[in-house]
Amino acid sequence: MLDRLALPDLPVLRGERITLRAARESDIDDRLAYPIDPYEEDNYGSAWRRGWDGRLCHTREHLAAGHESAQPEPGVYPWSAGYDGHCVGSARLRVDADQHRAEYSVGLFVPALRGRGLGREITRLVLDWAFGPLGAHRVELEVLAGNDRAIRCYEACGFRHEGVRRDAELYPDGWKDFLQMGILQAEHLSG
Ligand SMILES: CC(C)(COP(=O)(O)OP(=O)(O)OC[C@H]1O[C@@H](n2cnc3c(N)ncnc32)[C@H](O)[C@@H]1OP(=O)(O)O)[C@@H](O)C(=O)NCCC(=O)NCCS
Repeated sequence: MLDRLALPDLPVLRGERITLRAARESDIDDRLAYPIDPYEEDNYGSAWRRGWDGRLCHTREHLAAGHESAQPEPGVYPWSAGYDGHCVGSARLRVDADQHRAEYSVGLFVPALRGRGLGREITRLVLDWAFGPLGAHRVELEVLAGNDRAIRCYEACGFRHEGVRRDAELYPDGWKDFLQMGILQAEHLSG
């Protein structure tokens, strides 16, 4: 009665403009075409700053190492976001099969493509799969308070505000809160 979720292979998810698919070698060149933006990286958390040497570009070696170790652990679904023949970002679900729950994250590394609805398209593709074929009961995420664009994107896709982790992470300019957001299967299917 308390069955675990079955974990299928990483699916390819096709939207109007975006295709979510497994990482490819050519994604490395696509990523190298754009510098590291510290303010974007901060949206994923502050831990990266501790290892940051001030470099504003990734190196091929660094990205290739990440690519090689990208063999997903069970329950981790890492997608590259393809747009117009190039990789422009990524999305990820980390599934807790016992609790029928998944943690979501997303990012577009091409600044000019933000704010044009692609984040919403990616998020809806992932939610349709998570609540459909995967059969999850709940999808949750954390977002830096003040990342208004991401928060608007998640709200537009049906995520509700559930709480605040106060002073959750230390940044160069002080402690920052993270918001907790979540959406249930029934909410997604009725929305
Ligand atoms: C978060 C992210 C994936 C969202 O994708 P996106 O394509 O930019 O988002 P969308 O265009 O689909 O939706 C953005 C929403 O914010 C609004 N918006 C756009 N620019 C904005 C801005 N500068 N400030 C606040 N809101 C903004 C849009 O109107 C839209 O809201 P609406 O649906 O109510 O109209 C993308 O912005 C990104 O990669 N940001 C940097 C990394 C990051 O923050 N990742 C998330 C970590 S939790």
